[in-house]
Amino acid sequence: MKNDEVVNAFHDFYYKSGVWEQTKWMGHTIYKCPFDMWIYQEIFFEIKPDLIIETGTWQGGSALYMAQLLDLMNSNGKIITIDIEDFPNRPQHDRITYYKGSSVAEETIEMVANEAKKSKTVLVILDSDHSKDHVLKELELYNQFVSDNSYLIVEDSNVNGHPTYPEFGPGPMESIDAFLESNKNFKVDESREKFFITFNPRGYLKKIA
Ligand SMILES: C[S@@+](CC[C@H](N)C(=O)[O-])C[C@H]1O[C@@H](n2cnc3c(N)ncnc32)[C@H](O)[C@@H]1O
Repeated sequence: MKNDEVVNAFHDFYYKSGVWEQTKWMGHTIYKCPFDMWIYQEIFFEIKPDLIIETGTWQGGSALYMAQLLDLMNSNGKIITIDIEDFPNRPQHDRITYYKGSSVAEETIEMVANEAKKSKTVLVILDSDHSKDHVLKELELYNQFVSDNSYLIVEDSNVNGHPTYPEFGPGPMESIDAFLESNKNFKVDESREKFFITFNPRGYLKKIA
C-alpha cells in the first residue's frame, strides 16, 4: 500500500468509527480531530487574532477550546460563535459571545461587520451547515472580514469522498473550489495539513496581503 493510501484508509476508519463525536475539551464535546486542534493552536499563536468568528457552535466545546488558547497567549482576543440552535450547559467564558441566528442572515452579518470593524486581526471558521451551497454563501459573506495574512478556515471538507463519507454529496470541498475560482486573494495553505490527517483538507485558506 502506498503512503497516501494508508493515510486515507486510516482517515476513513477514524471518521467512520465516530470517535470524533466523543472527543471532549475540558468535559465539553468538540467535533474536531485533535490534529486540527493542534493546527489551530499554531495558527492562533502566529496570527494572534483579536476576533475569531465561528459559524456553528454546537455544544460550545470548540469555542471554549479557542478561548482557553487565547488565555494561554495572554491575548485580548474574543470569540463570537453563531448557531441557529441553543444548547443547555454551553461553557461560559468571558471571551465567548454566543449569538443565535443563521450564519447567513442579514442581521447576523450586520452584527459581525460591526464587531469586525473594531478588531485589527480577524480570523473566521466556517463550521455550520456543511452543504456546498450554504458553505459557498458563507465564504462569499465572511471572506470580507478576514484580515490580511489571517485565515478563513473551512471545516469538514473531508466529506463527499475527500477521503471519507462519499455519500455526503457536494459539501465544503466543492464550495472551496468554487470560491477559489473567483477569489484570488485566498490561497490554500497546505502546510497546515502536515499531520497527514486533517478534517479540513484544502480548508486552511490564507488571505494574501
Ligand atoms: C458541526 S456542528 C459545529 C461543531 C462545533 N464548531 C465544534 O467544533 O464542536 C454544526 C452546527 O451548525 C449549526 N447550524 C446549522 N445550520 C446553521 C446555520 N444556517 N447558521 C448557523 N448555524 C447553523 C448546527 O445547529 C450545529 O450546532
